[in-house]
Amino acid sequence: MGTILFHLLHVMYIIQDRIVGGYAPAPNSIKYIVSLQTTKGQHFCGGSLVHKYWVLTAAHCNIGTDEMMIVAGDYSLSMFEGTEQYSKPHRLIPHPLYNKTTNNADIMLIKMRVPMVMGSYVSLAPLPRQGTGVMAGRVCRVSGWGYTSLGEGQIPSTLRTVKLPIVSSARCNSSESFNGNITSNMICAGYNAGGKDACKGDSGGPLVCEGRVYGVVSWGNGCGDAKFPGVYTAVSKFRRWVDRTIYSSYTRCLKY
Ligand code: ARG
Repeated sequence: MGTILFHLLHVMYIIQDRIVGGYAPAPNSIKYIVSLQTTKGQHFCGGSLVHKYWVLTAAHCNIGTDEMMIVAGDYSLSMFEGTEQYSKPHRLIPHPLYNKTTNNADIMLIKMRVPMVMGSYVSLAPLPRQGTGVMAGRVCRVSGWGYTSLGEGQIPSTLRTVKLPIVSSARCNSSESFNGNITSNMICAGYNAGGKDACKGDSGGPLVCEGRVYGVVSWGNGCGDAKFPGVYTAVSKFRRWVDRTIYSSYTRCLKY
């Protein structure tokens, strides 16, 4: 009885200690993830490199061009590892339909001043095709430097990752959960029991399913709360907007 209780407490401790319930991936194994930092070097959001000049993130990570720095090739935020590449944003392009009350269309593209150089520590993230979905139950992975627990408010210095199943919009929108606040531009991922989730500071970061960034960390209810999965911007709904925005910036008429 004593040992069972001990094991139970131990398991609960692990779940509690890591509300996101994740672990540290191998250094530089997630090469498309970037850290968005203030010019003072404070991490505040994640993002994905989708082109050597472009980062995909959440619209609510918009703190203004002058305040922002993009760091690729990073793993430990507190250590200089020599693998990091830095760029200032040239232009921030939040989705025109972004609504900060409903969180609808919480997606943004950042054009960088200096392109990131692809290599052993930095690569591009593949995106899903327009309109494609992921089935409920499919296991995806979300990564970031966000809080490992909401209460303690700790930013971990090393990148963390956690595997989560996709939750159907019907269940996510049910009265026991988000009660109709999930739009068709959002997808949900998490366990009904909670314990594994993205959290504050993970926003803008990638939810990767089948090797593609299907979700951008957007919002939630607490972190890892039972019955409340994490809510992500459905990238496949914005694939055409992403392509149009990136490629039109290279034509004469629409110069970003
Ligand atoms: N909005 C939060 C941020 O600024 C992320 C929210 C994700 N929350 C969640 N429970 N999945 O970083």
